[in-house]
Amino acid sequence: MAMMASSSSLRLLFIISSLLLIITTTSQAQPPSTRPKALVLQVTKDPSTLQYTTTLLQRTPLVPVKLTVDLGADFLWVNCEQNYSSSTSRSPRCGSAPCNLARSKACSSTACGLTPNNPFLRLSTIGDVRQDVLSLRSTDGRNPGPYATVPSFIFTCGSNILLPGLARGVTGIAGFGRTRIALPSQLSSTFSFPRKFAVCLGSGNGVVFFGDGPYVLLPNNDVSAPLTYTPLLNNPVSLITAPLGEPSYEYFIGVKSITVNDKVVPFNTSLLSIDRTNGRGGTKISTVNAYTVLHSEIYKAFTDAFVREAEAMNIKRVAAVAPFGVCFSSKGVLSTRLGAAVPRIDLVLQNKDVVWRIFGANSMVQVRDGVLCLGFVDGGAEAVTSVVIGGYQLEDSLLQFDLAASRLGFSSTLLGRQTTCANFNSTIKA
Ligand SMILES: *[C@@H]1O[C@H](CO)[C@@H](O)[C@H](O)[C@H]1NC(C)=O
Ligand SMILES: *[C@@H]1O[C@H](CO)[C@@H](O)[C@H](O)[C@H]1NC(C)=O
Ligand SMILES: *[C@@H]1O[C@H](CO)[C@@H](O)[C@H](O)[C@H]1NC(C)=O
Repeated sequence: MAMMASSSSLRLLFIISSLLLIITTTSQAQPPSTRPKALVLQVTKDPSTLQYTTTLLQRTPLVPVKLTVDLGADFLWVNCEQNYSSSTSRSPRCGSAPCNLARSKACSSTACGLTPNNPFLRLSTIGDVRQDVLSLRSTDGRNPGPYATVPSFIFTCGSNILLPGLARGVTGIAGFGRTRIALPSQLSSTFSFPRKFAVCLGSGNGVVFFGDGPYVLLPNNDVSAPLTYTPLLNNPVSLITAPLGEPSYEYFIGVKSITVNDKVVPFNTSLLSIDRTNGRGGTKISTVNAYTVLHSEIYKAFTDAFVREAEAMNIKRVAAVAPFGVCFSSKGVLSTRLGAAVPRIDLVLQNKDVVWRIFGANSMVQVRDGVLCLGFVDGGAEAVTSVVIGGYQLEDSLLQFDLAASRLGFSSTLLGRQTTCANFNSTIKA
């Protein structure tokens, strides 16, 4: 009798817990819209500013909003001073969950605030945190799918004074940094997909994927593997955005040395480590810089080494063309699938078997007919970050940022795999 009672109460418990399970799974199965596994954005290089831009749909009714991509920026901001009209715009109050997630430290009676930044002007203002509808295409990794909508995406309001220097038609910045409110994390948490995103920049069109692979480029080339991995490093001191003293949410990696044709470039490698007291030094990846910027001491040693190796290959130096300091005649320089046949550059990562290899397509810039320049610029002796890997050196490679595992996966140039970043099924339009 006692046994029967306990088994029937067990059964009752089982029924109740199955009911609960059904209730919780059905309520979880009611996502904001359909639940995509990944999302995709087209990214286009603006020919006059060399900025990488993208277009999202925002507000109610939805309108296209063109933004400049800033890989290291903390959040998305858009100009709210002009043409912002939406029936779904909301200002979360100080102390609310969105303000806490944004780590806002500024507070007014109507809203919490953050400091939107124009990285080209190096100008920051204070702006209200807001929430509104945001929409972009889902993907199976191969083709663009239906739009996926975030009902209350957290962003910051910029103003007219932050717009100078941005590409034509751009009204804000799409921040991809390592915060909880930057695009990658908000999209991952809204749709419960892994906190990963992949950037594939092109000289014209390129693509960004949010979520895990496959990432398939035409013709049927899954570029999500194989990748080489390196840890993402923390820099405890941000040197770009107010308020100073915050940690950096940019993407730092550990370059240990630089080689040209396998010969180590001689410079004081203490420049390559991050000074944890003041945030200086180290290597970061940036879409704000068109070309890689090197601290003067590294620039001098690196260009000397490159010129020496180029001369040994009978490549003739010609007068420099700004912003570059080293240019060559393209006469006699072979063109290969991987670009001009010039000395090979390696950024050596955690050990000598893990390198970021830079071939001619990513090292040489054709500035005019017959003249190829080494696409690196001198950041001066006071450069705060010693190596800033810029857009030109990133093009036509896939970079996957795994935020949960704090690591970067990168492909070598996709040109070696007979594809480019322009080759995602190009029918995507915002
Ligand atoms: C504001 O919107 C109107 C109508 O969509 C458009 O013609 C105008 O260019 C916009 N102004 C700015 C500054 O974006
Ligand atoms: C390298 O630079 C660091 C910091 O400026 C300095 O302390 C160190 O002595 C330098 N090492 C050499 C070999 O010059
Ligand atoms: C590209 O996308 C379009 C529209 O989604 C689709 O009709 C077409 O079949 C796709 N092409 C390939 C090669 O997958």
